[in-house]
Amino acid sequence: MILVAGPASTYLAEKLAEITGLKLIKLEHKLFPDGESYIRFPEKIEGQDLLVIQGTHPPQDRHLIQAYFIAENAIDLGAKSVSLIAPYLAYARQDKRFLEGEILSIKSVLGMLKSAGYEKIYTVNIHSPWIAESSPIPLINIHAEKAMARYLKELDVENPVVVSVGKKGEEMASAVANELDADYAVARSSRDRVTGRVMVELERVQKLKNAIVVDDIISTGGTMVEVVNALKKMGAEKIYVACVHGLMIGKAAEKILNAGAEQIIASDTIPSEYSKYSVAEVLVEEVIRGK
Ligand code: R5P
Repeated sequence: MILVAGPASTYLAEKLAEITGLKLIKLEHKLFPDGESYIRFPEKIEGQDLLVIQGTHPPQDRHLIQAYFIAENAIDLGAKSVSLIAPYLAYARQDKRFLEGEILSIKSVLGMLKSAGYEKIYTVNIHSPWIAESSPIPLINIHAEKAMARYLKELDVENPVVVSVGKKGEEMASAVANELDADYAVARSSRDRVTGRVMVELERVQKLKNAIVVDDIISTGGTMVEVVNALKKMGAEKIYVACVHGLMIGKAAEKILNAGAEQIIASDTIPSEYSKYSVAEVLVEEVIRGK
């Protein structure tokens, strides 16, 4: 198997190659002045099984079309098979028609990647894991909780309560709490579909000193700000905020830190200054060694 670094995820592909010793092909890439992508395989790939690493974080549409170009052309150039690691899978939050007539974006994205020629898609902590069941292409969800917990352990937070966001987040909180040998609590959040405002209620909190809030995604930071505010009102002293995918749109980080969080922690599925832990090891374990 050969690893192929897509333009969006070269850093992560390099880590995977370093850990596994697998050969890595770095695609040549540039943007034309009008914003169109130019991509070139710098060497022959005939007869090879390729594992492409290409995240679909912002700019999502550009990264998606690049993922499409890569697979379609790999097959055209004679690759035997092409699979994709998309550490962050775009559009997974539009998995339902919340309002009548809405586009079911994730279904279209998965269909598009299948028609590009990918055999399988691996992703990390997908927002809507249930879509794997109806996906037109095998979709494998890898969990980053252990990698997150390893980093959190090093922070050595005194008596932390791990706080989840939403019902789905409860699984993440309990997994992280289990690794940290800590208790966990649930912050039920709901978002007004029209105004985007997030409301939060905390459940299952007894003794509270320090808190670690965990979520799959931080996007605008609105949800985290509400949870941090609620925890402050309940008397939390230190609050750490951790996620897998740090989209950090606009002033998300500033808003969260201003609300009183000590630190923002994200993985490297989306590279940023908040990428404090790596999903490389779990990807190697599950995708490459698990094969
Ligand atoms: C919601 O279901 C997710 O787990 C996140 O809480 C949400 O997507 C975060 O978005 P934002 O940062 O814009 O509040």
